[in-house]
Amino acid sequence: MQAVILVGGEGTRLRPLTSNVPKPVVPLVDRPFIAYMLEWLVSHGVDDVIMSCGFLATAVRDVLGDGSGYGIRLRFVEEPDPRGTAGALKYAEDLLDERFLMLNGDVLTDLDLSAQIAQHERTGAVGTLGLVPVDDPSAYGLVRILGDGAVREFVEKPSADQIDTNMISAGAYVLERSILDMVPADQNVSIEREIWPRLVGNGLYGFEHEAYWMDIGTPDRYLQGTFDILDGKVRTAVQQRLGDGFLAVADGATITGRVVPPALVEAGVDIGHGATVGPLVVLAEGVQVGEGSTIETSVVHADARIGRHCVLRGCIVAAGAVIGDNTQITDGAVLGEGVRIGADNVVTRGARVFPGVEIPDGGLKF
Ligand code: GDD
Ligand code: MG
Repeated sequence: MQAVILVGGEGTRLRPLTSNVPKPVVPLVDRPFIAYMLEWLVSHGVDDVIMSCGFLATAVRDVLGDGSGYGIRLRFVEEPDPRGTAGALKYAEDLLDERFLMLNGDVLTDLDLSAQIAQHERTGAVGTLGLVPVDDPSAYGLVRILGDGAVREFVEKPSADQIDTNMISAGAYVLERSILDMVPADQNVSIEREIWPRLVGNGLYGFEHEAYWMDIGTPDRYLQGTFDILDGKVRTAVQQRLGDGFLAVADGATITGRVVPPALVEAGVDIGHGATVGPLVVLAEGVQVGEGSTIETSVVHADARIGRHCVLRGCIVAAGAVIGDNTQITDGAVLGEGVRIGADNVVTRGARVFPGVEIPDGGLKF
């Protein structure tokens, strides 16, 4: 089975994590984000993947290579200019089979694609949209379906008065190649705004199924996705590392302080005397945590250094950041790569510090 993954967006809402790393390769728990999608696809029989790229495509290719590490054939297609979700598909036309999957590359899910494909075959659909319920459909594509699963209406980014169901498109589709005939070449075309509405009544179906689903496009949802992986709320390969104790500590981590599960601690990590790490924490390779510091509900990427008596709660610290003693990073704050925060600072309430910024000792309080 073949799959096309759209990864052309810039990931602006996840900045500064995506300031110098494209979203597909931003680390999530212990692997690049897009690895979850590849592993999920492989588990449903996909062996041929086309990445439809835009922004920083080379960086994605450098991390994923030719796909042999995942047991798949992996090819990259780069549009000369952003073509939109349908335009990007059209641009990959020459590589596409008679039937294929199309995925938005920014979601974490364990949706049952095999069952979705089976329904697609049963109904003889041209396109079958995976559907999931969300609390607020306004940021998504709202889908109204009939009893037999046929789509009655598709409304991209519905306004408040248009919302009468919580079912949205999960960004996971089974498609017949004939759909390409509906997309003009060499243009920017949105599959959500221009193709789905025209397919309503002409072979567009929805597939409803219980599943975990999360668009990880913002820091809050990135953290929530991390916690859900650590908690085993979404089926991923990380569960094997965490085991029944919901705890993975790699060989070569030095822990003088204490680790409270669920947590994942990689090799080369050093947790100082009296420090507490967890619950719901990821410390990537080489992270140093100073004496007496507390880290909860947070993610710290590779080689970051946390001083003594710091508090990190509900935050994301990118690779190589350095945090001085007695500093607090809390409440959705995100520190970009290589940021340096001096001692006695408070960084909180969703503050985003961009790569390379330096804040002196005591320079920031809320
Ligand atoms: N190659 C390429 N070219 N990829 C693109 C382009 C493009 O021009 N534009 C967007 N993408 C990719 C993004 O990187 C993302 O993975 C996916 O297509 C969807 O685009 P988003 O910008 O993330 O759309 P959205 O989240 O607002 O809405 C979409 O996803 C929802 C589910 O998360 C829609 O498909 C909604 O209908 C859906 O509910
Ligand atoms: Mg999205």
